[in-house]
Amino acid sequence: MKIFEKKKDLELFLDTLREKGNDIAFVPTMGGLHDGHLSLVDKAKELAQIVVVSIFVNPTQFARGEDFDDYPNTFEADKLLLESKNVDVLFLPSKEEIYPHGTKSDYQVGAIGQILCGAFRPTHFDGVAQVVKRFFEIVEPNFAVFGEKDYQQLQIIKSLVKNLNLSINIQSMPTQREQDGLAMSTRNQYLSDSNREIAPLFYSALKDAKNEILEGKTISDAIKDTKNKLSKSFEVEYLEVLDANNLTQIETKTSEIIIISAIRFGGTRLIDNLIFRRKNV
Ligand code: PAJ
Repeated sequence: MKIFEKKKDLELFLDTLREKGNDIAFVPTMGGLHDGHLSLVDKAKELAQIVVVSIFVNPTQFARGEDFDDYPNTFEADKLLLESKNVDVLFLPSKEEIYPHGTKSDYQVGAIGQILCGAFRPTHFDGVAQVVKRFFEIVEPNFAVFGEKDYQQLQIIKSLVKNLNLSINIQSMPTQREQDGLAMSTRNQYLSDSNREIAPLFYSALKDAKNEILEGKTISDAIKDTKNKLSKSFEVEYLEVLDANNLTQIETKTSEIIIISAIRFGGTRLIDNLIFRRKNV
């Protein structure tokens, strides 16, 4: 696995590979890698001859008071994991490499960045879009792979590619979970042992809501009851049931549904979602 810290060196290396006819698949991460990240790497390996992974804890997507300074750094373990997956290139840029002209963004995410997580983290998705756009300019991948766990992020990246007319094929992978159902997340490391035991109740409440909706409960009752259930253990930031294709309100013709939620639990913020189909009503 080749490791690059300078974008110039990476660009030169990738140009040579492209000239030889190789496709490039890209997986951006912030490190603290787990099997969720590795499932994206597996997908990238299927898609292209060359796989590039980046590790960069992007300051512009964290607001003041969030966990930027404490974000888990497990670099040596991450490197071994990526080597074991035969990743071709690891890109490890500094903040100066990514933002040589300062951190002011030239891309505005718009309305989709203000709902759900964006309502609680108003500057977050502008920072995500800014860094992903920057990475796309440097890596110029044919494919980029993102996780469905961060479903709103995935939709925002898809619309970025569309808005900027980029010829990058965005692929996604389902949420990878621990055996007890908790969605894998770098931030799970923040949970105390006792909170880690309770955390799977988050996903099980989403699963119950899905079953209740399929059994005929109204969406508004399902939302109300699930929020009540979750509130017994967690502080619910939001829980919504939306059209999975565009994160808008469900209409009678909507068949792909997402239950999407964020909770706070002992100082840790967890997000999760569940996507399912219903027969047209
Ligand atoms: P990070 O949280 O490190 O996640 C990197 C990628 O891994 C994202 O596409 C995310 O959706 C995916 N991922 C995380 N947990 C997953 C799980 N349990 N199952 C499947 N995929 C999972 O998301 C970011 O970093 C950043 O915002 C980034 C896109 C790198 C921009 O800075």
